[in-house]
Amino acid sequence: MPKSTTQFVCSGCGYKTAKWQGKCGNCGEWNTLQEQRVLVSGHKTGGGIAAAPVALGAVETAGHQRLQTGIGEFDDVVGGGIVPGSLVLLGGDPGIGKSTLALQLSMQVPSVVLYVSGEESVQQIKYRANRISPKHNLSVLAETDLEAILATVEGSHPQLVIIDSIQTMYCEAASGVAGGVAQVTYAVQRIMRVAKTYHMSFIIIGHVTKEGYLAGPKTLEHMVDTVLYLEGERFASFRILRCVKNRFGATNEVGVFEMQGGGLQEVKNPSQLFLGDAGIKATGNVITSIVEGSRALLLEIQALTSVTNFGYPKRTTAGFDANRLQLLTAILAKRANLNVNNQDIYVNVVGGIKITEPGADLAVALAIVSSMKDIVVEDTIVIGELGLSGEVRFVSNLEKRVKEAEKLGFKKIICPKISQLKTPAKSKAEIIGVRTLAEAIAHL
Ligand code: TYD
Ligand code: MG
Repeated sequence: MPKSTTQFVCSGCGYKTAKWQGKCGNCGEWNTLQEQRVLVSGHKTGGGIAAAPVALGAVETAGHQRLQTGIGEFDDVVGGGIVPGSLVLLGGDPGIGKSTLALQLSMQVPSVVLYVSGEESVQQIKYRANRISPKHNLSVLAETDLEAILATVEGSHPQLVIIDSIQTMYCEAASGVAGGVAQVTYAVQRIMRVAKTYHMSFIIIGHVTKEGYLAGPKTLEHMVDTVLYLEGERFASFRILRCVKNRFGATNEVGVFEMQGGGLQEVKNPSQLFLGDAGIKATGNVITSIVEGSRALLLEIQALTSVTNFGYPKRTTAGFDANRLQLLTAILAKRANLNVNNQDIYVNVVGGIKITEPGADLAVALAIVSSMKDIVVEDTIVIGELGLSGEVRFVSNLEKRVKEAEKLGFKKIICPKISQLKTPAKSKAEIIGVRTLAEAIAHL
């Protein structure tokens, strides 16, 4: 007869312990241990029934076409449409537009869709749907009981089911409160079984923690086939859909959307959105090109320097890593003899996007120089990573970046000499390869 006992599980990392602790012994988070009931049964060995392996050559895959959602940016990110029977986890900050995107998908997909919301009433969903498109004939279900939802799904056989959100779903068979580790893990396991049995796809919306990771156990990300994040600044209108795991395609693709009055609209030419008002010629503004997924984006970097009044000089950034800025200022001081030690430096990336690519280093450095020396940088794109000795290092995909710059009418491209030599790009714009920071400054 199985005995039941309790254990405590960390909602962040899944660490298990027999006794409650205030702080997780594994990830160090406070207040994340939740109680869970487990059945302990005597171990049994042997007695399994042999299963027959299947020859892959004999497995039918025709007829399992990917589901085209009708939203091109979304289809590209998941690798050309949703694979039947797959689980897609969609995470993002509150209010970023997860429910809006999911509802738009349900309205656009040409096949049968069931939109299940555990967060909103059917009236609230209707308000939202009317904002997006007044003409629709979508059926929705406002329900949090997972078994009831799965029974509905098994009865009506939709090709795509949207669960908004997994943290609101409740299953009788699992312990704990809705949104707890046990409930979420169990719910995803149940959904997975239904998805694989009936070849239905599920899009599961998940909350994120304050650190920006998907809430719930990390195992959740292992269980699903695809993990997507919807990102963006709450007060800026653009959103980036990023794929961080994909069993059926590449993970390097991103989709760009703009939140408008009628929901999320696809952005076909994102560079224009991110470039600031190009009419204003000011010092401290430098345009760079970063590569997101398979395409290049042009971004404007703004730097402002002003003499420090007292104490330490300030280094403040928005959209750029503050530690990286510290490093760049040290390089500027040592390798370009720039007196930055008595200057407060502010760096901002226009459009609210976050730069993670080191290829923007040189642009940030030149923006600081431009602000300090009052030089206006016009019609120029600056690309390159900076090394500690002031050398301009290789960046990949030069050709893509050059093409994007040319498309938007830029005349001059400052890039690493080594990239220019390795991957020569042809362009109407003048391409200047530089080896060091000092060389790049001389070209301003
Ligand atoms: P929502 O999809 O509810 O976010 P999430 O599910 O990720 O929490 O997004 C709501 C935000 O989007 C809200 O601030 C209003 C805005 N919005 C628009 O700007 N236009 C629209 O057409 C819709 C439906 C929402
Ligand atoms: Mg929502």
